[in-house]
Amino acid sequence: MSGQAIKEKIRSLVEELNEHNYRYYILAKPTISDYEFDMKLKELEKLEKEYPQFVYKDSPTQRVGGSITKNFPSVKHRYPMLSLSNTYSIEELRDFHLRVQKIISGNIEYVAELKYDGVSISLIYRKGVLEQAVTRGDGVKGDDITANVKTIASIPLRLRGDYPEEVEVRGEILMPRSGFERFNRERIENGQEAFANPRNATAGSLKMQDSALVAKRPLDAYFYFVLGEQIHFETHYESLQKAKEWGFKISDYIVKCTDLKCIENFINEWDKARHQLDFDIDGIVIKVNSIEQQKRLGYTAKSPRWAVAYKFKAEQKFTRLLSIDYQVGRTGAITPVANLAPVHLAGTSVKRASIHNADFIEKLDIRVGDLVAVEKGGEIIPKIVAVDKTQRSPDSKPTRFIQNCPACGTPLRRVEGEAAYYCPNEKACPPQIKGRLEHFISRNAMNIMSLGEGKIEILFDHGLVFKASDLYHLNASDLLGLEKEITQEDGSVKIMRFREKTVENILQGIEDSKQVAFPRVLYALGIRYVGKTVAQILAREFRSIDNIRKADFDRLTAVNEIGEKIAGSIIDWFQDPDHRKLLEELQDAGLQFSMEETKSGKMSGKLEGLKILATGKLQNFTREGIKESIFLHGGTPISSVSSKTDFIIAGEKPGNSKIEKAKQLNIKIITEEDFLNMIADDN
Ligand code: IVH
Repeated sequence: MSGQAIKEKIRSLVEELNEHNYRYYILAKPTISDYEFDMKLKELEKLEKEYPQFVYKDSPTQRVGGSITKNFPSVKHRYPMLSLSNTYSIEELRDFHLRVQKIISGNIEYVAELKYDGVSISLIYRKGVLEQAVTRGDGVKGDDITANVKTIASIPLRLRGDYPEEVEVRGEILMPRSGFERFNRERIENGQEAFANPRNATAGSLKMQDSALVAKRPLDAYFYFVLGEQIHFETHYESLQKAKEWGFKISDYIVKCTDLKCIENFINEWDKARHQLDFDIDGIVIKVNSIEQQKRLGYTAKSPRWAVAYKFKAEQKFTRLLSIDYQVGRTGAITPVANLAPVHLAGTSVKRASIHNADFIEKLDIRVGDLVAVEKGGEIIPKIVAVDKTQRSPDSKPTRFIQNCPACGTPLRRVEGEAAYYCPNEKACPPQIKGRLEHFISRNAMNIMSLGEGKIEILFDHGLVFKASDLYHLNASDLLGLEKEITQEDGSVKIMRFREKTVENILQGIEDSKQVAFPRVLYALGIRYVGKTVAQILAREFRSIDNIRKADFDRLTAVNEIGEKIAGSIIDWFQDPDHRKLLEELQDAGLQFSMEETKSGKMSGKLEGLKILATGKLQNFTREGIKESIFLHGGTPISSVSSKTDFIIAGEKPGNSKIEKAKQLNIKIITEEDFLNMIADDN
């Protein structure tokens, strides 16, 4: 085949496959089987591999990702991405309608549509090709996440039909519930932390550096807004229908209304039916349909005057409280959990709910047998929010919070001023020992994920591991053949058995953990109040575990963000002979207990080439400390704002003139926390 013929063949395959993608994802009416599609895709992949000069930007093969983005560039939106003002009642909607009527005389037509609960995105197409995908950010500037967005199958890489030369289309990226459940199950099986809800899972996915991983996440997108110089529609409704023709996923659940009753009906319908959708919505958006009227209404500083959101209330149901379980955490804190008569809430059957702590039980006077109101907000774990005391049986008794640990029987203690009860039997209470081990191996600590899925529990139950250092003495013969019966949700029993491959993975995971950097090792020790951020701060300040151990109370509290509570807890921890022995054993095992600077004297290249200014009082750094930190991560600390400044870290009471100037120059202003996240250790 000649070069030209190959190019044409590739182009025709690209177009054919894109057409099938459109039929599958947008119209939900595929005309070929998945197998036929895959065969054609393979053919295209093969040709593209041989002739990389003919790889088109809109080729479906480009969706598998592969590019790595270290820092997403910040991009200014051509039109700011505003938010919507919220309403929570029909009365408030009526007020909105009255406000509109004050400016627009004559007939007003509204469009009511679903308010998708995802992550908003702005897509820019030039000559029909997806050029850039930008997050909302602060509304003025967002992050360029194009590589990640291109992996989402339902987002067109090239537009169809008669599209304008340049167009911006805005919508919401989301994770359908079915995909979310599957994905979260896989995470739990791999010993990773589950996401609380599909929105968090979406946001987390879109921030990943490796687009090939994003490609594996079950993401989808709906669109609701078309913008651009060459956009001249008469109505919003028409613009959406056009966007559908261009290849965007536009919901079919849109109505045109000329009175409030019609809007109210749509709201009530969806308030009930929303749980049947495969994605989350958190309300209904009502927009003035005529673009000309929209222009007359204009915008306030924050939101359009021509649109409003009606937010659904979190769903609540009453059910019976059957019993209260008490769980023991790794620090010995006791958490009460309610067992409920199953109730259908927000699309799932709810059997358990959180009841926070003893104070909460007392405040609401929650009693076993009560009819309690359960609410499911944005989070997966439902909570008890009220008690119907009129329905209480006359012989019900106030709940007496347990006095002894449910696991080891030790009398519980309550620390002055704290809501939680603790089991003080730190050394021998099984859930506390297991909890500490689980924390030690967890993703943000030593990251020994091959011991996830409850495998660490098996080691504990077989008496092989009591403390973290025991992990480093394990060998294959200890592990081979271990097994445990696991009762699953549906009551069936599964046997987990350590086979050769599992054992190999476990031992390799343990070996690899010896390379984990010092701040995470420090966090893994599980010293009370030493979370991820505090561990990082301590590591940066003291450089080694020996220096931390030697630091007295005054030295510790001299570090800005280390208060008396944390300092006291650190000192107590080192005073315990068992902890000192543990440290010695972990040091002998070869874990990283100090932080060497790299050859260039730098801790990382995360801020390489960036000019950064800090202003205002910071919590975690002195004036000199922040400069040193910027420098050690490869950046250049500067003291005055100019167009060359990359970003500004604003602390408490920042310099007004600096902030003003930064705003004028559109320089990104970040918080100290954002900065800590940027330089956070991620190995
Ligand atoms: S219209 C200028 N329509 O809700 C107004 N927004 O709370 C443009 N959202 O930032 C927004 N569904 O991320 C619009 N059907 C819908 C929406 C929607 C979800 C999001 C959007 C916006 C936020 C405002």
